[in-house]
Amino acid sequence: MADEPLVLGIETSCDETGVGIVRGTTLLADAVASSVDEHARFGGVVPEVASRAHLEAMVPTIERALKDAGITARDLDGIAVTAGPGLAGALLVGVTAAKAYAYALGKPLYGVNHLASHICVDQLEHGALPEPTMALLVSGGHSSLLLSTDITSDVRPLGATIDDAAGEAFDKIARVLNLGFPGGPVIDRYAREGDPAAIAFPRGLTGPRDAPYDFSFSGLKTSVARWIEAKRAAGEDVPVRDVSASFQEAVVDVLTRKAVRACKDEGVDHLMIGGGVAANSRLRALAQERCEAAGIRLRVPRPKLCTDNGAMVAALGAEMVARDRPASAWDLSADSSLPVTEPHVPGHHHHDHVHEVSKENLYS
Ligand SMILES: Nc1ncnc2c1ncn2[C@@H]1O[C@H](COP(=O)(O)OP(=O)(O)OP(=O)(O)O)[C@@H](O)[C@H]1O
Ligand SMILES: [Mg+2]
Repeated sequence: MADEPLVLGIETSCDETGVGIVRGTTLLADAVASSVDEHARFGGVVPEVASRAHLEAMVPTIERALKDAGITARDLDGIAVTAGPGLAGALLVGVTAAKAYAYALGKPLYGVNHLASHICVDQLEHGALPEPTMALLVSGGHSSLLLSTDITSDVRPLGATIDDAAGEAFDKIARVLNLGFPGGPVIDRYAREGDPAAIAFPRGLTGPRDAPYDFSFSGLKTSVARWIEAKRAAGEDVPVRDVSASFQEAVVDVLTRKAVRACKDEGVDHLMIGGGVAANSRLRALAQERCEAAGIRLRVPRPKLCTDNGAMVAALGAEMVARDRPASAWDLSADSSLPVTEPHVPGHHHHDHVHEVSKENLYS
């Protein structure tokens, strides 16, 4: 529909410069420039390298997204940007770019939460999110169960990891196995040829007295690392495929079990899974199986929309416009530890600069 908001979203919370353009819940462009190769030899993301790469990639990636969408910047109804959480310096590049474009174009600016964006992106795949929706958010920095009745204003955490995030565990085990970075995709690949029941790795926080919706992956990580060390010490080959499959099974078993339980306990019949780890093929398959058995409808975006991208930020921005949320103030700042409970970041000054600027239309 032509009257749905046309929004450009900028994502720079980690190592991908993502620029997406959506109209309502329709994806028009999703341009990404990644600095992942520049970090590979360090075994993790180097913040300063990421910030510099964002700076270089920003304008060309925005230009590419506009071209892909077949629109000009003047057509936009708003500019959304990840205000947090993420790497402070990296976020700052995105927030500053978004402000500059929004100000120059006379468009409203929307600071949005990266984590809520990982949930909202599913609207581009499966249409409007049901309300309420249970969300299992599993990424490089977070693993949480969230209940949302409105993705622009109400995200309630039911539980979260008490130590490592699921993606972090994938990355660490991949490092122990010398498989490179990021670890998720490569472990996923090896696991397909391995036996998930080969090694019985522990399922963290699944005892009867444990917090039902919290996660813990650090014990699992240690257990897998010890198992590998013991093999090496004995001079035996490490069966990478079986270790990958068994480790992955331990992670996704716990994630899906707790997510389904949360849905049942809260009487919610829709589960969405978002964040980079939602790209995992075994997580998707097991979640499908267990949701079907429990009468829960599962929604998982296609893998490309699960990892960081600009389209997810645009999707949440478009939802902000559709729901008449106020634009963010020009003093919007990046917040590296923005809580998941704040999907929308208003900034501090509430006078309406946007309309003043739009009269001048500085960009034309
Ligand atoms: N197929 C996969 N299987 C398992 N993990 C995966 C897969 N693909 C990506 N990942 C993991 O997803 C993580 C990256 O996801 P994402 O880009 O959402 O994280 P992030 O943005 O770094 O963290 P956050 O969103 O919490 O700030 C990495 O840890 C990566 O190993
Ligand atoms: Mg992310």
